[in-house]
Amino acid sequence: MYKESPVEVSQKEITFKVEELEPFLSAPQLDMATPKPCKIELKDGSTMLIREVKDKEIPMLLDYVKKFMETGAKDFYDIVGARIYAELLGYLRNRLKDPYLFVGAIDGEIVGFANGRVRDKDLNISLHTMAFKRGLRIGATLYYRKLVYAFEEQKNQEVWSTFESYNGLKRWGIGMAQPSYPYPEYQHELGGARVFYVDQQYWNAAVKDYVKEMVGNELDYDVEDELLEKNEELVMP
Ligand SMILES: CC(C)(COP(=O)(O)OP(=O)(O)OC[C@H]1O[C@@H](n2cnc3c(N)ncnc32)[C@H](O)[C@@H]1OP(=O)(O)O)[C@@H](O)C(=O)NCCC(=O)NCCS
Repeated sequence: MYKESPVEVSQKEITFKVEELEPFLSAPQLDMATPKPCKIELKDGSTMLIREVKDKEIPMLLDYVKKFMETGAKDFYDIVGARIYAELLGYLRNRLKDPYLFVGAIDGEIVGFANGRVRDKDLNISLHTMAFKRGLRIGATLYYRKLVYAFEEQKNQEVWSTFESYNGLKRWGIGMAQPSYPYPEYQHELGGARVFYVDQQYWNAAVKDYVKEMVGNELDYDVEDELLEKNEELVMP
């Protein structure tokens, strides 16, 4: 936009360093608790460690989910893969407010991914969950881990979700009997689909036992060093 200055000025041009501009584009970290690692025994007897994604793991996650965009329409892996790709870049380039990223790992291999972001002190937005290994309820568990993070560690009041796939709707929308807000007055930021939500009261009353019911075990935060070491250097399946 151009408009004449209303006064005489000594500099006709004012330049900025990109370092001065970046604070306008970057999302400052405001509301984040540090998520604790935890573990859970799955139905085949394997132990899944759930921990934060390390920055050095993001390139291989990007490469991995990118493949679903070309080959993976089945079960909606392509659209979820594309969105996770964008969110990983959003994290890397610091263009998302307060994102959090979890991986599930078994014996040094990444078996699933889940992410979200803290919109403000009250509201936590669930973004995506993906199981790379099927049939063990890994995705169910990773989504539940996001709710634990929101309600127990962040002390947020609500988590908003929306679902792209039948499996997601079945697992968490129907699986947790999540209520939804009136549509179209309320829309999720992932393109304006309807909002399903869990709040603190519903979490405490109805959802806390979900993973116990689904997997038969609770998340266990007593994680031994040996398990952390085993999953220190991860590879994709
Ligand atoms: C949604 C999702 C995370 C759920 O993961 P999950 O809880 O680990 O469950 P799975 O997808 O492995 O399995 C779902 C059901 O189908 C069965 N199943 C489907 N495909 C299977 C496969 N290839 N191998 C084994 N079981 C399979 C499972 O046994 C399971 O049955 P159950 O409900 O009796 O346990 C996962 O399906 C996924 O990543 N989908 C693509 C991305 C996506 O849709 N994300 C959510 C967006 S809303």
